[in-house]
Amino acid sequence: MNKKLMIALAVVVSFVASTGLFASGNSEGGLDIGIAMPETHVARWVTDGETLKANAEAAGYTAEVAFADADQTKQNKQISDFITKGAKLIIVASVNTGVNNALAEAAAEGVEIISYDRLLMDSDDFNYYITFNLKKVGELQGKSIADALDLDHAKEVKYITLFAGSPTDNNAYFFYDGAMEVLNPYIEAGKLEVVGPYPKTAADLDTFNRIATPGWKAELAKARMENLLTGDALNYTLDAVLAPNDPVARAVVEACLNDAKYDSIDKLPIITGQDGELATVQYIRDNKQHMTVFKDSRLLAKATITLADAILKNKVPSIEGTVKTKFDTNLKMVDTFLLTPILVTKDNYKEVIIDSGYYTEDQLK
Ligand code: BGC
Repeated sequence: MNKKLMIALAVVVSFVASTGLFASGNSEGGLDIGIAMPETHVARWVTDGETLKANAEAAGYTAEVAFADADQTKQNKQISDFITKGAKLIIVASVNTGVNNALAEAAAEGVEIISYDRLLMDSDDFNYYITFNLKKVGELQGKSIADALDLDHAKEVKYITLFAGSPTDNNAYFFYDGAMEVLNPYIEAGKLEVVGPYPKTAADLDTFNRIATPGWKAELAKARMENLLTGDALNYTLDAVLAPNDPVARAVVEACLNDAKYDSIDKLPIITGQDGELATVQYIRDNKQHMTVFKDSRLLAKATITLADAILKNKVPSIEGTVKTKFDTNLKMVDTFLLTPILVTKDNYKEVIIDSGYYTEDQLK
């Protein structure tokens, strides 16, 4: 072989090695599990990604995480890269249904997909979905408002403003409907009055979009709350705000604290949340946010890797601590595993979140 040819060959070999172009798909060198997370502006996804990777590796798989910065085009590229690297299974929490091209590419290559936390809608390219009981998340939020305002016994009408999650996230509809199933009877009985738009259910899409938080962007929720305080809510004192997750809840708190009517902690409305974010646990301890719904990512990650392992070994998945059901993507009913979310308030945050080692006392300082 002449020298030029040898150099050319060496270049090709090193290119193939660096791109993983012809990776065999087995764990010797190839990637087993790709983990595609949607965003980092909501803290939970960073924990989810890292915890999934650690669990996959502990189960003997090679794994990689990619975060999409709320950009579906970026995530599709990340999924394609996982396929190129020989991934046999990809865990996906998508930004929106623009992910479907990437799912089709994976299916065509025989790569298994697990829909993680958020259901991949309008696709029939996958078989499994794992998440927390979504409706229950909303129910816990609604119930905590009813309890905190003692709506069963209240003599005077109480005032609430409603926020929902991103219209591009199927979860947002379940959270909202779960909460409103609890709150609607009080509204109908005249014990609770909605200030601002009131979609009775998420199916009232036009009104739902008016209370939604596109892309779950907290800054949009803050701007909406500021507008409400100087608009629809100007002549009311709000007793509660239904906020779908922790970043939205904290944005609502900030907007309220900047308003003369709510400018000290004891004047704040009852505000709900979800995710058990560190900053929120501090807010709960400091009486700024009333509650959060804790969805322990350690349990979700462990259950997801148990599911992945069963799929990769062609076994029927049976996952401890989950309820098995089916969810509809609009194109297919997929096997679904639901974990149980937990209500966290000032009364139990130490026990549920600190004692279990999720955060340390030091982190809370
Ligand atoms: C998740 C929530 C999260 C939200 C924003 C939802 O799909 O279930 O836990 O707060 O997305 O990232």
